Amino acid sequence: IFVHEGNSIEGIQAMPGINRWPLNTVISEVKRAWGLGIRCIVLFPKIADSLKNEDPVECFNPEGLIPKAIRLIKKELPEMTIMTDVALDPYSCDGHDGIVSDEGIILNDQTIEYLCRQAITQAESGADLIGPSDMMDGRVGAIREALDEEGFEHVGIISYTAKYSSAYYGPFREALDSAPRHNTVKPIPENKNTYQMDPANAREAITEAHLDEQEGSDILMVKPGLAYLDIIHRLRSESDLPIAAYNVSGEYAMVKAAAERGWIDEKPVVLETLLSFKRAGADLILTYHACDAAEWL
Ligand code: PBG
Repeated sequence: IFVHEGNSIEGIQAMPGINRWPLNTVISEVKRAWGLGIRCIVLFPKIADSLKNEDPVECFNPEGLIPKAIRLIKKELPEMTIMTDVALDPYSCDGHDGIVSDEGIILNDQTIEYLCRQAITQAESGADLIGPSDMMDGRVGAIREALDEEGFEHVGIISYTAKYSSAYYGPFREALDSAPRHNTVKPIPENKNTYQMDPANAREAITEAHLDEQEGSDILMVKPGLAYLDIIHRLRSESDLPIAAYNVSGEYAMVKAAAERGWIDEKPVVLETLLSFKRAGADLILTYHACDAAEWL
């Protein structure tokens, strides 16, 4: 679920069939999902440009968009499991998941301090499952330790374990206006290749899975899902933890676009796609098709 600042009567389209919701009406979408049998949602923020900063402190503002949305949803529908996204890109004017140095380097360890504060703020607001999507090295262990120290032993971690540097994230970055951005002050890397994984590298997913397990992740997620079914399959046999598949925005958009043109029949294509995640070994599926699929099933 995409949330945005400000008040509007209803959602604003973020992708075909997916809206960005203001805080005053987001609960209607959450209740709709609940009514269809969905028991876990993930929240993503589209924050105002004026709040984006080179030093993205907004990511741990307790009065920020995500903490407010979590509190609101937990008040109205406490049983709904809320998963969050931990990364700096929606809050950074540079559009990277980490802090960018003057030389254009992503600062791994400094970023982890921000991620820990972001995770704690989300947990304090009532989040159930923290989802680090940033791909900094060592962040799962650091977040686990930070949560435990603050008394949030009961809050889980679903790590983006094998997150590839993929072109399939396009519609998501459009929806949040969060893609890496040029500026005249310092060089900004155009892509996320230094921290997200090389799509040609399958073995690295296994290394990442072992690290995340040791660092205390409760669920391992593969992202994208559809173009990486082999990775889901490998991690299923490599780990005893639950494996999640993230059926990302570009994968969703392809199906919606073809369906809108009448080139494919949406319902059977979506259900077959979701089935393929299960066949590959996924225990959980994070997908923009969730409400449609729940209705059809
Ligand atoms: C932020 C984040 C991204 C996605 C989820 N969390 C974008 C990115 O890494 O650039 C993409 C999700 C999608 O495409 O649906 N770190």
